[in-house]
Amino acid sequence: MIHRRLGWPLPRVFAHRGGGALAPENTLAGLRIAARLGLRAVEFDVMLSADGSPWLIHDEALERTSNGVGRVCATTDGDLRVLDAGARRHPAFAGEPLPTLAAAARLCQQLGLRANVEIKPAAGFERLTGDVVAREVRQLWAGADLPLVSSFSESALAAARAAAPELPLGCLYECPPADWLARVGALGALTLHCAVSSVDDDLLRTAHAAAIPLLCYTVNDPLAAIALFQRGVAAVFSDRIDCLGEADLGLRPAG
Ligand code: G3P
Ligand code: MG
Repeated sequence: MIHRRLGWPLPRVFAHRGGGALAPENTLAGLRIAARLGLRAVEFDVMLSADGSPWLIHDEALERTSNGVGRVCATTDGDLRVLDAGARRHPAFAGEPLPTLAAAARLCQQLGLRANVEIKPAAGFERLTGDVVAREVRQLWAGADLPLVSSFSESALAAARAAAPELPLGCLYECPPADWLARVGALGALTLHCAVSSVDDDLLRTAHAAAIPLLCYTVNDPLAAIALFQRGVAAVFSDRIDCLGEADLGLRPAG
């Protein structure tokens, strides 16, 4: 069923960091694998370069996932463009570039993937990142289903809301604070995202009563996913998209 405010049916499973564990994280290779395996939605992380451009990457530092050195926010677009974001994961992915948000947006639309864009600001760049990512998302997905935009940073979400009020927002917490419902309301957010370890009956009851879909990360066990759905969790982020797609779980697509 199409979610009234989201504008598209919320899928049960989002490939985490692009292609989950099957590809280098936050790469176009990951998006292609997710689509190939029948996933209908992907989540990825977006951070700004020194030039203020949005790129797909999780860490503030380049070292873990690429052959670069130093901080993303201190590296120019020109220097990011030549990095290898695949070889650290496996030599078979050598030469895989670090994608821009624009490249990821194009590919998601080509492949028919819905997206959850997680704004991942470097410390001190929360508002700027929220503002830039929201403006780019509006432009890159013009005429298509808008992605769900989430962040651990409420400042980034507030800036995104101000820059592009039409974007569907998700509040993301490792563990939702006691006043999460008021915070979701203040930001005009649509969804609540949290760590699976924070899901409890009280949270589920409150979210259900407020008609706020609860999405949780990271769920890699199919039986755990099914149990969460039975308890009322709307969707999960998973690294194991090889065994946890909606078809693998015997779920009817939401639409
Ligand atoms: O958005 C859900 C999840 O991706 C949050 O954690 O650290 O994998 O970005 P992280
Ligand atoms: Mg993420």
